[in-house]
Amino acid sequence: MAKVEVDLASIPEGKNVIIKWRGKPVFIRHRTAAEIEEANKVNVQSLRDPQTDDERVKEPEWLVMLGVCTHLGCVPIGEAGDYGGWFCPCHGSHYDISGRIRKGPAPLNLEIPEYSFGDDGKMVIG
Ligand code: FES
Repeated sequence: MAKVEVDLASIPEGKNVIIKWRGKPVFIRHRTAAEIEEANKVNVQSLRDPQTDDERVKEPEWLVMLGVCTHLGCVPIGEAGDYGGWFCPCHGSHYDISGRIRKGPAPLNLEIPEYSFGDDGKMVIG
């Protein structure tokens, strides 16, 4: 299936869901105000793969990423790791609440798939 529709009303603030898209996991997090603030206060120049949070989201409340570690492709665990985001247990990569790599062997931030917002409270991945 090329596109997948997600009902955003079913994802409470502060929660993650994982959906399948083109055989890959996609992580969707409904971020809290504190998490958005946290994501924005990082010194971007200090990052291995420098990206502002703005460059990674269309709407700050909704973080959407491929759930595939950029090291060797394991699926990171949510709400884990040293940076309040995701942790890949395979070789210990830590991603922050914007999905940016912060520690461990992964070279790049978690990838952002194509997605858009519908006008009916739905998100379309793909
Ligand atoms: Fe994630 Fe190696 S595959 S740290």
